[in-house]
This record gives sequence, structure tokens and C-alpha cells, in this order.
Amino acid sequence: MSRFYSLVWLEEVSSTQDWLKEKSINCVVVARRQTKGRGRYGRSWQSDEGGLYFSFPLTETFKDEQTLPLAIALSVCQMLEDYGFLASIKWVNDVYIGGKKICGILVEKTKDRTLIGIGLNVNQKRFTESLQATSLLLVSGREYHLADVLLKLLDRIDKNLDLLKERGFQVLREEVKKRLLFLGEEVVLYTDPPTVGILADLSPEGYLVLMTAQGEKKVVSGDITLRGTMLS
Ligand code: BTN
Repeated sequence: MSRFYSLVWLEEVSSTQDWLKEKSINCVVVARRQTKGRGRYGRSWQSDEGGLYFSFPLTETFKDEQTLPLAIALSVCQMLEDYGFLASIKWVNDVYIGGKKICGILVEKTKDRTLIGIGLNVNQKRFTESLQATSLLLVSGREYHLADVLLKLLDRIDKNLDLLKERGFQVLREEVKKRLLFLGEEVVLYTDPPTVGILADLSPEGYLVLMTAQGEKKVVSGDITLRGTMLS
């Protein structure tokens, strides 16, 4: 049986992530709009009608738990490939199509659960310019049925979470690596001061391996961008 057996679909909510935190219910919660959609590092997430915004809790323990965002990002890519799109993973939480962000993933720990929040741009026609975002409609010129996209994505997530739980990240690593943005290219990691290096590999633990002037560096978390661009 799928772990996603109950679902609540709301017209509007501040944030599906916060709704789950307040209610302590174990279900998938989806919203047509969010008034205070949140992203990583306290950023806001533009949540106009047309996008798919949902969260779900996990109460199980996983092998290589730090790779949950990569397992989810891989599921998003695979689901998008089923629709005919070519999508890439920008380590560690984002999915891009054609150099623009199509999906963001938020993973938050509470005392007894891990809350996964996903924002996928589906039918939106415009975004704030600075976001460098795109949607499935903008890429393909056609509209998508949100519930179909959601169910296909949940199915992919469910299967990859089973694999992660039972066999660990090693079974997903090559699939993630195949879709990893900037592999072999020079990137900037936003540490203080920023670190520049060639994105050389994805380690067995899902960390980024950067070849820097000071030697090989394993990166556990952070934001990367291609050197010389504003992609973030
Ligand atoms: C990021 O790119 O920084 C992550 C964005 C995550 C957005 C989703 S939309 C559904 C869920 N509810 C939120 O408030 N945030 C996540």
C-alpha cells in the first residue's frame, strides 16, 4: 500500500507546511493558493493559482536520511520525463528545466516527523522576473491537470522512498548523477567567503564533491550557482 493514502485539498492556506505543523495530521495536504508560501533560507515561495503546492509528513526512518531532498528531486524529474520534459537536479533541493527553476523542495524536521514541502510550477503564465522561474505551461504551451500531476508525482516519490528506506542512497545515486546540473562545470558555493570549484562528483552520501584550488572539498549543504551566472 502507498504511504500516501489520505489527502486534503484546500482552496487557500498560508502554507501547506505550516498547516501540517499546526494540525499534526498525517496526510498529504495540497493547496490551490498559499498566502505565505515558504522556501529555504526564509525565502518566500510565489504561490499563485496554477501551481501545485503540497506537503506531507514522514514518520519512518530512512537509510541515508540526508539524501531525502535528492530522492524527491529525482522523483520530480522522473515524473516530468514521463510527460516528455527533460529536467535536471540543482543540488540539493531544486529542479530546473531549460535553465529555469520549475520546482523547489523544502525538508523540515520537527520533533517526531520530517515534513516535505514541494512547490511545482505547472500552469502559471508569469513569474516575478528576478525569480528566473518557469512552468510546464510556459515550456510546453499546454495546460496540465493538477490532480493528475500530483498523483503521478506521489507514485514516483513513494517508489523512490521505498528504495531509499530499504537499500539506501546507493541505488538512486547514478540516477541522480545522470540528472545533476553543472556536473564537470565550475560553480560557486555561497559560503562566506564564496567557494569556487569544479563540481566533480556526488559522493555516496549525496554530498557535493568540489575540486577547489585548495583540493577536494565535500559539501554537505548550501546553494550553488554556475560561475559567472545569476542562476541560484
Ligand atoms: C525552495 O525552493 O526554497 C523550496 C520551496 C518549497 C515550496 C513549497 S510549496 C508547498 C510547501 N509549502 C510551503 O510553504 N513551502 C513548500
